[in-house]
Amino acid sequence: MDAIPALPGPVLGIETSCDETAAAILAPDGTVLAERLLSQQDHLPYQGVVPELAARAHLAHLPRIVAETLDAAGLRPADLGAVAATTGPGLIGGLLVGANYAKGLALAVGKPFLAVNHLAAHALLARLPSLGLGVEFPFLLLLVSGGHALLAIVEAPHRHTLLGQTIDDAAGECFDKAARVLGLGFPGGPALEALAASGTPGRVALPRPMLGRPGCDFSFSGLKTAVAVLASREPQGPIATARAADIAAEFQTAMAAVLADRAANAMRGFVEKFGRPGTLVAAGGVAANAAIRTALTGAATEQDFVLAAPPPKLCTDNAVMVAWAAIEMLSAGHAPDGMDAPSRPRWPLQSLSA
Ligand code: KG4
Ligand code: ZN
Repeated sequence: MDAIPALPGPVLGIETSCDETAAAILAPDGTVLAERLLSQQDHLPYQGVVPELAARAHLAHLPRIVAETLDAAGLRPADLGAVAATTGPGLIGGLLVGANYAKGLALAVGKPFLAVNHLAAHALLARLPSLGLGVEFPFLLLLVSGGHALLAIVEAPHRHTLLGQTIDDAAGECFDKAARVLGLGFPGGPALEALAASGTPGRVALPRPMLGRPGCDFSFSGLKTAVAVLASREPQGPIATARAADIAAEFQTAMAAVLADRAANAMRGFVEKFGRPGTLVAAGGVAANAAIRTALTGAATEQDFVLAAPPPKLCTDNAVMVAWAAIEMLSAGHAPDGMDAPSRPRWPLQSLSA
């Protein structure tokens, strides 16, 4: 791990890009001093995140979440060395709440503000020293979340080369849709994983889009539609649990096979440029899935790669990754951002390298 130059104090990170209101304070060496995370419940009746409700909930809860985090760390705002917030990509209302709160706080205590890219933060978290994963640059990134599916080479906090991405839906979106047609709650990924544990893959047949094709792109819309068609062919009324479990198990197996296949192509590309051995970092909410982690471990081992995935609770959205990304940015020599730093609903990883 590269040496981290002395920062003037702990870094507060704020995450509000979707439906988690979160704050974390990390010491300059990455030690987590305190963290708070509120998963908004306001969206449950709608089976998806309602942007306006999310923004309002962030506004209502963020000040308390930050105050509790400072209290838990035993710090006053003036003790902070920097304040960071996710400024994209994500839902604009929530981004504005988090970014403006962070800017106000930074300005009030005269400390630098850092605008953090949410995707870069998911990726960099694997390098948090206390996780002990030993991830060095360059590494290969598989980022699979509610809004994304992509493979990229990461050479520095802001140096990414995109190898492939989804041509339609995100991986998590596909999990959530499959969970919905199986009558599970939102977010669907964890519920589908739990149900799949009692099912048997192969009892129903689902497609594995892009499997065996060259390149590193993904496509999930065919898989999503196929699950919906299967569920619609069931007799009227709630789907029988055993049947739903078999569908969930087959869905998860198909998803794992596709992700491992696309990652294997990306590993070959990585080896051409950097040689072996390599590190495959799995990040984003879908990387919390145990079956997917097992499939990725197998694919990585075959190519003399090591799979590095944060613990499941840090794969999904959190503020530790925001504070850590800010520490990585500062230690790589990034200048702090101005008060005019924009919040961006779209902010592709590869645009950071420019
Ligand atoms: O990274 P994340 O928390 O938020 C975004 O940046 O989008 O990812 C959320 C997504 C949701 O679609 C959720 O269903 C999925 O990650 N997810 C999972 C699991 N836990 C969360 N998918 C599969 N298996 C899981 N255990
Ligand atoms: Zn995320």
